[in-house]
Amino acid sequence: MNKHIAFSSAPLGHQILGVDIAAGVSDEQFKEVADTFDKYGVVVLRNQKITPEQHIDFSRRFGPTELYGIASYLLPGHPEIFVVSNIVENGKPIGMADAGRTWHSDMCYVTSPPRCSLLYGLEVPRDDAGEPLGDTLFGSTQAAYDALSPEMKQKVEGLKVRNSYATNVERKQKFSTVSEKAQVERLKNQAKFPDVIHSLVRQHPITGRKCLYLSEGLSVAIEGWPPEESDKFITEMLAYMTRPEFVYRHRWCEGDLLIWDNCSAIHLAIPDFAADNHRRMHRTTILYEDSVEQGQLAA
Ligand SMILES: [Fe+2]
Repeated sequence: MNKHIAFSSAPLGHQILGVDIAAGVSDEQFKEVADTFDKYGVVVLRNQKITPEQHIDFSRRFGPTELYGIASYLLPGHPEIFVVSNIVENGKPIGMADAGRTWHSDMCYVTSPPRCSLLYGLEVPRDDAGEPLGDTLFGSTQAAYDALSPEMKQKVEGLKVRNSYATNVERKQKFSTVSEKAQVERLKNQAKFPDVIHSLVRQHPITGRKCLYLSEGLSVAIEGWPPEESDKFITEMLAYMTRPEFVYRHRWCEGDLLIWDNCSAIHLAIPDFAADNHRRMHRTTILYEDSVEQGQLAA
C-alpha cells in the first residue's frame, strides 16, 4: 500500500510515497491516490521517472485529457502535454515562461473547467546553495469557504462572477515575456473564449463540498454590481482566500508529479529565479469524466 505524509497543518497538500508510475499502478493503488486527491486537493508523487506517454496514460485515469494552451508550447508529438519552461532552444522558447503568475484556477474562463492538472518537474531552478526556486503556492478554496462567517456565507451565496480570458490577455500583453508568436496566439484565443459566468460558491462536482471560485485577473466582475464595489470585493476576497492558514507552499524536486484540483484549490507560481536558471515542466490538463473535450487551442 502507499505511504502517506500530510504536509504540516495546511488544509490541503499531501505526499504519497510508494507509487512508481513507470513500474505500473494497480487499480487499488490508483483508487487510494484518487481518494487522497479528492480529500486533500493537492497531492505530490515523488521520485517519478516517466515518459510523456506514461504521464498522459496516468493522467487519463483521472478523466479525459484536455488540449490546453498555446499551440507553439505543446510537446512535439504529444499535444496533451503543455510545456512550462524558460528554456530557449535554437532561438525558440520551448515552453511558456510566465505561466501562473497570479492566483488562479486553470481554465476558469471556459464553461466546463477542468478537474485537475498534473505537472511533472523535469528541471528545477536552484539557488547558489542548491535550494530549489520557483515554488508553487496553493490556496484551499474549500477551507476558505468553510471559515467564512455565517453572514458572509449568506452574502456570497448566489453571487455570479464573470470570468474573462480576453481581459486577462490584455493585461498580460503589457508585461509578458513570452515570444511574439505566443502573444499572437493568445490574441487569437481571445475570440475563442467569450466571457463565462460561474457561481462564486461552487459545489465540488465530486465531493459536493462548497468552494470559493475566484481567479485573480480572470474573474473580472460580480454580475450586477457597480464596477468599483465589484473590484474591491474581488480584491478583498482573493486576499482572504490566500491567507497563510489556507495555503500550502510546494518546494519542487526533480521527479515530482504534482496533481492539483481546480475547484478546491487555486494556485500561484513564484518567479524568483533568473531566465538562465532553467525550469522545465510538463503539464497535462484533465476534465471531469462527463465533460466533452473542448480542444481549447489556438489555431
Ligand atoms: Fe495554472
